[in-house]
Amino acid sequence: MSETTADWDALERAAVEAAQRAYAPYSRFPVGAAGLADDGRVVTGCNVENASYGLTLCAECGLVSALHAGAEPGPAPRLRAVVVRRGDGRPVMPCGRCRQLLWEAGGPDLVLDGDGTRRPMPEVLPGAFGPHEL
Ligand code: THU
Repeated sequence: MSETTADWDALERAAVEAAQRAYAPYSRFPVGAAGLADDGRVVTGCNVENASYGLTLCAECGLVSALHAGAEPGPAPRLRAVVVRRGDGRPVMPCGRCRQLLWEAGGPDLVLDGDGTRRPMPEVLPGAFGPHEL
């Protein structure tokens, strides 16, 4: 399962639907992320805020957790294509922390559409720090 086989329209719809289930009463900035995994699953996440503000979970955090939580036993699944959107369909580029999370889960083969353009991760996070550094 590669980025080239991804149904980008379906990923965008899934991202918007996830954003519509976000818990964002403080920022009123609902975000949804949808990704195609190399095992064929479409996984999603939405942002979940907290009264303590700083504990907010970004949509991409939920996406990466769903990627691993729903996988069959075996090698860790990899993300191949990810779309991030607001609840009204507007684009969202992931924050820096989430770019790092996506890098770990997809590496250079992951293609990201945050702003309406499909970008390979090395363009989104140039010179990334990753597992190969350790
Ligand atoms: N947010 C995400 O869910 N992902 C990002 O990459 C950027 C920011 C959320 C966090 C917070 O709930 C709201 O958007 C406003 O920052």
